[in-house]
Amino acid sequence: MQGRRTEDLLRWDREHIVHGRWPIGDNIGIVTEKSHGIYFQDTEGKEYIDGASQLLCVNLGYGQQEIIDAISEELARTQYAMLFHGFSNVAIIECGQKLGELVPPGLDHFSFTTGGSESIDSAIRLARFYWHARGSNKYKVISLYDSYHGITGAALTATGSGKGSYERGLSSQMPGFIRIPSHYCYRCTFNQEYPRCGIQCARFLAEVIEKEGPDNIAAFMAEPVLGVGGMLAPPPEYWPMVREICTKYDVLLIADEVMTGFGRTGKMFAMEHWGIRPDIITMAKGITSAYLPFGAVAFSNDIWEAIKGRNFVAYTYSGHPVCAVAATKAMEIYVRDSIAENAASMGKYALERLIRDFGPLPCVGGANGLGLMLGIEIVADKATKRPFDPGLNVMQKIQDLALEQGLFVRVSGIGGTPSDRVVFAPPLTITSREVDRALDILHPIIAGLVPS
Ligand SMILES: Cc1ncc(COP(=O)(O)O)c(C=O)c1O
Repeated sequence: MQGRRTEDLLRWDREHIVHGRWPIGDNIGIVTEKSHGIYFQDTEGKEYIDGASQLLCVNLGYGQQEIIDAISEELARTQYAMLFHGFSNVAIIECGQKLGELVPPGLDHFSFTTGGSESIDSAIRLARFYWHARGSNKYKVISLYDSYHGITGAALTATGSGKGSYERGLSSQMPGFIRIPSHYCYRCTFNQEYPRCGIQCARFLAEVIEKEGPDNIAAFMAEPVLGVGGMLAPPPEYWPMVREICTKYDVLLIADEVMTGFGRTGKMFAMEHWGIRPDIITMAKGITSAYLPFGAVAFSNDIWEAIKGRNFVAYTYSGHPVCAVAATKAMEIYVRDSIAENAASMGKYALERLIRDFGPLPCVGGANGLGLMLGIEIVADKATKRPFDPGLNVMQKIQDLALEQGLFVRVSGIGGTPSDRVVFAPPLTITSREVDRALDILHPIIAGLVPS
């Protein structure tokens, strides 16, 4: 039974507010009212473990007082300051300097945004602007089928996953985009087995560049670990091969670290796992631990030198000082509290348990991921890897059952994503006891699935 206030809030929401990945006008279940640590609470006072950092964005968990104070102080000081017409502000300069200490050397040039999609559109615009400045017509962008890059024009066109749901009536098809198969080994598009495949998915990138003509390809863009696609980490050879191909054909490499950045995979940026230096990195989410909307595009000296002296573009809220101080403080905390290291050790701890305790269950095809970006593969038939009939709504049922018991987990397999995976991606501040609490709730739910 819900109280009167909750019922009124739910009714108003249902009749007026558009949600992400939820049918317009459909019942919603939870109205969040407050939060602390790795928990959020609804209007009925029920507490949930946030097993997915909501949208893998609340990397530092809730209630980080230092960020809240930094925001309040800057809000009292400046409220807003534009990054146009020759104006800058102290907060954004200090934020850029801090970010410059974290990105790979030589990538300390920035364009600021208010979120992931904006960062992606800005990165693609920047790549084309760069080639134009160099007197080239390279403009096509290659991305992956199982990717998610956001919902602005270019970002949605580049996005490869969930096409059915994202594109129906959304008309996102801009010209100049090409998508190729990803490295989702469990369901390999090329019907290959790792490592005998020789990483055909990476080699295929070279084939496509050759076919399209290297003079037409501005950039290859991908998430270091596919996030919305189901927390899919590539084989170790993948990124070094991709870097080599991009260098060989003079194609810019854009790493979309919107989800993987800021400690999520156990390193500050995921590309560090493979020692890869992209030409452009897109960021958002964890940059402020989601306390305020903010994003950035970091790019190389080479790009900076090529576009120097030209007019580029920015958003009204590019370089917003209040968001900037939230980011600066969050970055200080990531470094000071060794947050990426905790993500690495808690990720290892959780993954061992997933493999040991969940792996043998009849409807689990495997468990894997990187850092605290973990996924459990759900199958109706383990031997054939056959997924459940979508009509059975198994993934949604898993999420609903977990919520009933006070755990929020994200599930892919809804809305046209390529994999049926239960995602475990809690705030990076989590302890091993809290990991156990979450997985103790999840285990009986997945053990209760019946093969079909
Ligand atoms: C890898 C990646 N890129 C871009 C985006 C889009 O970010 P936003 O929702 O802030 O626009 C997301 C969002 O989930 C993402 O995971």
